[in-house]
Amino acid sequence: EKGGYAHFMIKEIHEQPAALRDTMSPHVDPENYTIRQQEMPLTREQVEDIAGITILACGTAYHAGMVGKWLFEAMARIPVEVDIASEFRYRDPIIRPGTLCIIISQSGETADTIAAMREAKRQGARILAITNVVGSTIAREADQVIYTWAGPEIAVASTKAYVSQVMVLTILAADIAHKRGRMSDEELRDYVKELLTIPDKAAKVLEMNSEIQRFAHKHFDKRSVFYLGRGLDYALALEASLKLKEISYIHSEAYAAGELKHGTIALIEPGTLVVSLVTQSKVIEKTISNIIEVKVRGAETLAVAFEGDTKAREEVKYLFTVPKTSDLFAPMLAIIPMQMLAYYMALEKGCDIDKPRNLAKSVTVE
Ligand code: F6R
Repeated sequence: EKGGYAHFMIKEIHEQPAALRDTMSPHVDPENYTIRQQEMPLTREQVEDIAGITILACGTAYHAGMVGKWLFEAMARIPVEVDIASEFRYRDPIIRPGTLCIIISQSGETADTIAAMREAKRQGARILAITNVVGSTIAREADQVIYTWAGPEIAVASTKAYVSQVMVLTILAADIAHKRGRMSDEELRDYVKELLTIPDKAAKVLEMNSEIQRFAHKHFDKRSVFYLGRGLDYALALEASLKLKEISYIHSEAYAAGELKHGTIALIEPGTLVVSLVTQSKVIEKTISNIIEVKVRGAETLAVAFEGDTKAREEVKYLFTVPKTSDLFAPMLAIIPMQMLAYYMALEKGCDIDKPRNLAKSVTVE
C-alpha cells in the first residue's frame, strides 16, 4: 500500500506533481491558457460585490491560507484576514457585509474549523470551502466547494494536501483579479501558461532527494532550527517549521525576517541552523542582510532559492534550489525541499514518521 516507499509521508511527497496536476486540470484550459468557468464558484457580479475575504483554517491549512492572503491582496486588491479557526470561534469575531469566507480543510472534519464556518455563516458570510474530502461536513455545509484532488492523505503530516490547497488559491486569486479588472486577458494568459509548468517543476524538485538526505545526515542532531522569510517566504517558513517540529521533534520557529532584530536574534548562537527562504525578488536583499546578521553570530546557514540565484549563494553555507518560476508560484515548489528535510531529519532520528507522538490526522475534538 505504500507503493515501495518506507512511509506514507515520503510517498505522498512524491505524489505532489500528480496532486498539483489533478487539482489544476479541472480549472485551466491548456490550449487557450484561460481559467475554465464551469467550476469557478463566483460570477463576475459576485466577485465585484466582495468587500473583503476572511480565511479560516487550522495548522497547515492555515499556512496555505496565509499564502492565499498574500495572493488575493497583491493580485485582486481585496483586504484579507486569515484567522486560526479556534481563535475566530471564541473571539466574538466581526464579519462585515460582503465578506467572502474561505474555509480550508483537508479532511473537512476539523472540529474548530467546522465551528468557525458555522459562526461565519450565522453572521451572513458566503462560505466557499476548499477541501480534499468529498461529502465531508465542511463540503456539505459550505455554500460552494472547490475540491483539491490530492487523493487520500494518510500520513499525519500534511504535504500533498498543502500544495493542492495553494494551487486552488493560486487559481482563485487570478480568477478574482481578472474578474475585477485587475488582470488583463494577456496577463492571465501568461499566468496560466506558467502555472501549467508547475507540476513538472515539482517533479524536478524531487530529484534533490539524495542531496537533502545527505544534509539531514549531517544536521539531524540540531536542538533548534530557525526559519526566516518575508512575504510569501514567511508563509512558507511557517509551514516548513511546522513540518520539521511535528515529525522530527526538533524545536523550530519561523520568523518574519524583519522581526529578527526585535528579539529573536538573541537566540542565535554558534551552530544554530538558520534556514532562509529567499524566493521573492522584491525582498531578497532584505532577507540576505538578515542572513549576514545570523552568520556573523556563528549560525549555520541554509537557503532555498530559485535556480540561477546569485545573491543568496554568496552568503550561505548550503543552498537548495528549485526551478525558476514566477515569484507568486514559489510556495508550491519551495515547500517540497522543506518537507523532504523534515522527513529525512526525522528518519535519521528514528521517529515514527507517519504517526508522530500526540498527533491525530483529523482533529475532530476541540
Ligand atoms: C500538519 C497537519 C495539521 C492539519 C490541521 C488541519 O501537518 O496536518 O496541522 O493541517 O489539523 O486539518 P484539516 O486540513 O483536515 O482541517
